[in-house]
Amino acid sequence: MPFRPRYTGLIDRYRDRLPVHDDTRVISLGEGNTPLIRLNNIPREIGSDVDIYVKYEGLNPTGSFKDRGMTMAVTKAVEEGSRAVICASTGNTSASAAAYAARAGITAFVLIPEGKIALGKLAQAMIHGAVVLQIRGNFDAGMQLVKDVAEHAPVTIVNSINPYRLQGQKTAAFEIVEELGRAPDYHCLPVGNAGNITAHWIGYCEYSSASGDHVTEACAFCKGRCMYAGGAVVGNRPHMVGYQAAGAAPFLRGKMVDNPETVATAIRIGHPQSWDYAWKVNQESGGWFDECSDEEILAAQKLLTGKEGIFCEPASATSLAGALRDISSGRIPEGSSIVCTLTGHGLKDPDTAIRQCSEPMMTVDAELRSEERRVGKECRSRWSPYH
Ligand code: F0G
Repeated sequence: MPFRPRYTGLIDRYRDRLPVHDDTRVISLGEGNTPLIRLNNIPREIGSDVDIYVKYEGLNPTGSFKDRGMTMAVTKAVEEGSRAVICASTGNTSASAAAYAARAGITAFVLIPEGKIALGKLAQAMIHGAVVLQIRGNFDAGMQLVKDVAEHAPVTIVNSINPYRLQGQKTAAFEIVEELGRAPDYHCLPVGNAGNITAHWIGYCEYSSASGDHVTEACAFCKGRCMYAGGAVVGNRPHMVGYQAAGAAPFLRGKMVDNPETVATAIRIGHPQSWDYAWKVNQESGGWFDECSDEEILAAQKLLTGKEGIFCEPASATSLAGALRDISSGRIPEGSSIVCTLTGHGLKDPDTAIRQCSEPMMTVDAELRSEERRVGKECRSRWSPYH
């Protein structure tokens, strides 16, 4: 029986479209290759003729899309002789940086906002051996501090201002195009620093351009003329739609927000680092930005878990919350194909998930008779044909 070649991560998979050399030592944990799941029950429930897919990035090795960028950033840091990486983070970047630094045998310094990071992420950063610094301030303050430190110390920043991060993250768009045979009509993402929406656009542009074509102004590697595009794989590009949490929505306000607040801690960001690029993406793709309330975000998270069996973190559900609103208003028309990125896994933040579940947990005696009675009663009350 012929064996399929072992999947060894996105750098090996897309080597000729990424800034690596033949002898580059690749730091990988097998990231990428995540499932693109077609929603079955939610479209039926909302009664709309739309194809909605979710790209379940929570299934990356450390539980978020950050691993796509981190494999590139840490690979390049090591290649360039760096012995330490540093980042500010609302959670996912810190876990990813810590894991890839451990894999590479170098040190990770992570700065996190005190008391505002989900426990699952803190656990990852600590157990992978990162130097964790809690700062009295939010992500934006941490980011500024990281930039200041990196000016004076021999460390590589692995936030998404490191252009290799976006190079790794663009591969999610490649995977989507390969799976659907075309780009979707709309691609919806949660937006914090706006690195990921930019990275996806770069990916879609590269896959729809021939070599030497004018590709996109939203990429740090070139201004339009791309060395990684070649032999257009697909003819179309999506409209890129970015959704922000209402309390942390600088793209909606048209300016930076100083005290961002939202239950979606991952995107509690008021000073996006990819501000200019994201506006380019917006113009070039004919997309838009919109905002979702915390209630809408949590409702979408619960809908996905309850109706489709897919558990993402609150920030990730922002993409679906916004898409559902735009489908029902007709801004996203009937007959469209839509991809929503689910950026991180729900297990990051079990506290917020449990707080959303109003049904009390039952406690029963550990003996069959009493348990049978409780379970039987419960089944009868929930499932009428059982009466
Ligand atoms: N979703 C999740 C789960 C995230 O962790 C982030 C960013 C985003 C969306 C937004 O992506 O910044 O590229 O627009 N998290 C960063 C972190 C800030 O530190 O983990 P973006």
